[in-house]
This record gives sequence, structure tokens and C-alpha cells, in this order.
Amino acid sequence: MSDVLILAIESSCDETAASVVKNGREVLSNVIFSQIDLHTVYGGVVPEIASRKHIEKIDHVVNQALEQAGVTWSDIEAIAVTYGPGLVGALLVGVSYAKSLAWALKKPLVGVHHIEGHICANYIENKELEPPFMCLVVSGGHSHLVKVADYGVYEILGRTRDDAAGEAFDKVARAIGLGYPGGPKIDKVSYEGDPLAIDFPRAKVADNEYDFSFSGLKSAVLNYLNSMEMKGEKISQADVAASFQQAVVDVLVSHSITALAEYKFDKFAIAGGVASNSHLRDAFVKACDEKGIKFYKPSPIFCTDNAAMIGVAGYYEYMKGMRSGWDLNAVPNLKLGER
Ligand code: KG4
Ligand code: ZN
Repeated sequence: MSDVLILAIESSCDETAASVVKNGREVLSNVIFSQIDLHTVYGGVVPEIASRKHIEKIDHVVNQALEQAGVTWSDIEAIAVTYGPGLVGALLVGVSYAKSLAWALKKPLVGVHHIEGHICANYIENKELEPPFMCLVVSGGHSHLVKVADYGVYEILGRTRDDAAGEAFDKVARAIGLGYPGGPKIDKVSYEGDPLAIDFPRAKVADNEYDFSFSGLKSAVLNYLNSMEMKGEKISQADVAASFQQAVVDVLVSHSITALAEYKFDKFAIAGGVASNSHLRDAFVKACDEKGIKFYKPSPIFCTDNAAMIGVAGYYEYMKGMRSGWDLNAVPNLKLGER
């Protein structure tokens, strides 16, 4: 059988990315233009600026992906693109660009779910990983505990009731003056702090033990900061960061380990931007080791937004016969498992 090369495009938030993926598992190129510096001054992603920058960069990023892979358009079998969830204007840039390419080059078009992409990032460096397994997806917009029953077949076991894990990282980082993007900054500064310094709450959701809630934790951090200010006491940025992060890590690990036992999985993967958190990765290595569960984690570059993961997900959808029409549209709140 000849090789199947997919050109993938990702533009759902503040990364303009393109990649060429071979047979769903081998990344031939992975080009990412990060807009983080542009948004940092505003303390978060500004949708209008993100869309405009995607338009400026996408053509160059796609051409670089082909060049770095050492291939030409005739080698590409299909074009995969993220069509949701994400910022509508940002998504539309990638979707319109991919549709035009597919139309002009007469190649099949495959619309990919961004979260499915995050999960599929695990296939890149773990050639032996196959479904079924359980995956914790923790990104800026999502905290999902997912049963990966088969390629492209997902069942959500738990989800966040309010803030996503990454959102909580970003909001707490802003409150303690670390700025945007919060996750990597809290990760780093926590090495200088004491994770047991402040006892922040580990929230449980009464009617589903696998659901998450992070807004209470965020409020607890804000209350702590207020009360310290009222008392005129100085806070330790590193202690607050480390203690907050420990509360998030504890909840993510305990929910996952309970679900792994309940559903009898022996394979567990993590995905999404927060999955690049070094403390979370270490905690899962330890917890999974104790329980005899095989643990998978993508390298940090495949955890945060990239197009290689979209190429992997696109490959499996393509091989199943999935094709998108010229009416493919951006779907900002697309649910996992929906088309
Ligand atoms: O998956 P992602 O790149 O984009 C979305 O699909 O949302 O995730 C971005 C989120 C941000 O909230 C960012 O603060 C968080 O992932 N993040 C981290 C780390 N690196 C990125 N959170 C904790 N620790 C990190 N090292
Ligand atoms: Zn993402």
C-alpha cells in the first residue's frame, strides 16, 4: 500500500500551524507560528487580532510545512483542517484556506475536531498505542475525561462544570501578577514555592464523581489574595502558584485514577496544553506506576496547539471514509463525537 500523506491546518486559537503527517503516525513537518507575544500585552487572546494574524501567516506556514517535509502538492493525498471548537473568526481562516486549497488541487477535504486532535497527539510518539484507552484532555477551553473506544469513537466520562483547567491557570496567574500565558509561568515559578503552604479546596461534584469544577478553587485563590491585602500582609507568589497548582493536580489525578479503576482501563493518556505541565506529568507517572497502568504523554510541543495532531486525527477519519463538503463551516462550540 502506498503512503498516505495528509497536509493539516490548525488555526482555532492563537497558533497558526501546518503539518505534513505520513500514515497517521509519522510527522514529516510541524510548523507553528505562535501569536502569544501579540496577545500578552492584553493579558489574553484578542479574537480579532488572532483572525487577522492567521490571515497574514497561513500561506507562509503551509508552504513551510511542505518545504520542511520535502514534499510537493502532488504527494499530498488529502487536506485536514480544524473546524471547531475554537474562536469563530480564527477557525474560519483555516477552514476557508483549506477549502480553497482542496478545491483548487482537487484533493479530499477532512474537517477535524480540535479535541480529537489533542487526543490523537498521543499516537505520534507511541507507535504501539491503540484504542481502547482513557484520555484526560486538559486545555484552555476543555477538561474532559474521555473513553477512547476506537479511532474516532469517544465517550465523555467527565467534564468541567465551569472553568477549564487551563482557564483556571490563566486566571490565577493574572491575579498573582504573572501575566499571560499563565500555565507555563505557574509551572515554572512553582519550583520556588511550597505546594503545601496554602490549603486550597479540592472540589468534588456531587452527582458525577468524574466531573470537574475549578471556579471554586479560583475564587478561593482570589479570596486568599483579598484577605491578605486587607491584613496588609505580603503574599508569596511562588507559594500561591505552587499551592493552587497542587490543588489542580490532585483533582485531575484522583478523578483519573478512580475512573481508570472503575472502567478497568490499563492504558491512560493525557492531552492538551495543561498536559505539558511538568508537575502534572510527574504526578501521573507516579500514580500510574503505583497502579500498574501504562501511561502515555505527548512531548510538550504536541500538547499545546499544533497541526501535527490534526494530521493524525485527519488520517484516521480519512481512512474511515470521512469527507467534508464545500459547505464545511467553522463550528465554535462543536462537541466531541459530533459532526
Ligand atoms: O491546548 P491548548 O494549547 O489550547 C487550547 O486548545 O485551549 O491549551 C492552552 C492552555 C492555556 O490555558 C495555557 O495556560 C495552558 O494550556 N498551559 C499550561 C502549560 N502550558 C500551557 N498549563 C499548565 N502548565 C503548563 N506548563
Ligand atoms: Zn488546543
